[in-house]
Amino acid sequence: MRISVIGVGYLGAVHAAAMADLGHTVVGVDVDEAKIAALSEARAPFFEPGLPDLLASATASGRLRFTTDFAAVADADVHFVAVGTPQSADGDAADLRFVDAAFASLLEHVSPGDVIVGKSTVPVGTASRLAQVVAERAPGATLAWNPEFLREGFAVKDTVSPDRLVYGVPEGEAGARAARILDEVYASAVAAGTPVIVTDYATAELVKVAANAFLATKISFINAMAEIAEVTGADVTQLADAIGHDARIGRRFLNAGVGFGGGCLPKDIRAFSARARELGRGDSVRFLDEVDKINLRRRDRVVELVREECGGLEGVRVAVLGLAFKPHSDDIRDSPALDIAMRLADGGAVVTATDPEAIANARRRAPQLAFVESAAEAAAGADIVVLITEWPEFTGLDPEELGALVSHRVVVDGRNALDAERWRSAGWRFRGLGR
Ligand code: UDX
Repeated sequence: MRISVIGVGYLGAVHAAAMADLGHTVVGVDVDEAKIAALSEARAPFFEPGLPDLLASATASGRLRFTTDFAAVADADVHFVAVGTPQSADGDAADLRFVDAAFASLLEHVSPGDVIVGKSTVPVGTASRLAQVVAERAPGATLAWNPEFLREGFAVKDTVSPDRLVYGVPEGEAGARAARILDEVYASAVAAGTPVIVTDYATAELVKVAANAFLATKISFINAMAEIAEVTGADVTQLADAIGHDARIGRRFLNAGVGFGGGCLPKDIRAFSARARELGRGDSVRFLDEVDKINLRRRDRVVELVREECGGLEGVRVAVLGLAFKPHSDDIRDSPALDIAMRLADGGAVVTATDPEAIANARRRAPQLAFVESAAEAAAGADIVVLITEWPEFTGLDPEELGALVSHRVVVDGRNALDAERWRSAGWRFRGLGR
């Protein structure tokens, strides 16, 4: 099939490359010239395991190209819109500026019979509004909404073999045809038995935000238990193991620590709350405000632990291990690690931070911090070591070797990812979250 992908950020770049790898002919379009220049040379503009190989093979096949010229979409019959929907500068709602701009540019080049597929995470009600715009400006084209559930770090795998496919389509033959075309686009996943759920627009939009709201709630639930564990002497990790054996609960997404960050969960739950308030149903998801607060309190807790262990922050030398919002990513959007590092520095601590992939991004955002290339350099002369992003490079550290470098053997494990007993036997004072 001939496909265009509008917006080649984390989502769109992976989608474009994966579609070309599946055998489709793909053009990726974006207004960001630097991104297009990198992708045109088969270079990934961000760190994502597997993406460089995929870009190289798809580009070599001649089926994948990138351009800033929207007119190029005219060659395609299926157009994916994968632009960002960040949090608004003045509140919690999603900022739909990029979606509206993408549709405006795209619709100038769409032909009757084309299918436009929204992938961006949008407030419920957006697709039916955009369907009107499509009907006015590109009569004969059909809008579908096909939310994306990929996780950074596993984006290639999640795109090629998703857990499920959701198509929000209009009623009638046009919608049925759009669903058939999407089945063709995803033919390999469909043939492999991936469940396909065909819905109306509102359901498709809600599936995405509901899934993210559920995941965020699960994380904040266990972090709330961590808060209780901290005042009772209980161990939240054992608690998670024990309740996680109940298949109805499940152990995944029950890792207590500094909580969730990134470009999706935090802004998506806030946008969901804001949209529910607009719909007069703010009460229905008011618990998400609490989910957000619990999540942010965990960052305070790490700062408090450092203060407690070191008798204040002024002049304290802190080694911060991790800057990305999670391992296997260079993404620092709403990263608990970078936030904590900056707050420690604001409080007067001398922070030396490291991360296997996110230093360049972090340096742009927080030039006041000192960055080094390895945990060993960060730990040299440190009064306290704080692990915040559980990269294998950090969880695999040898406490004996690291202990020889620091001035004081004190570690805060912000992800409950270290073997506490091993560190204690190497003479470290060990503080975890919720244990
Ligand atoms: C998330 C959703 O998982 C994905 O389906 C959606 O498409 C986009 O948002 P992502 O943001 O890439 O994906 O990361 P995810 O792996 O979900 O982690 C989100 C955050 O939660 C990270 O900061 C992670 O460290 C944190 N987390 C995750 C926990 O604190 N505890 C857990 O048990 C799991």
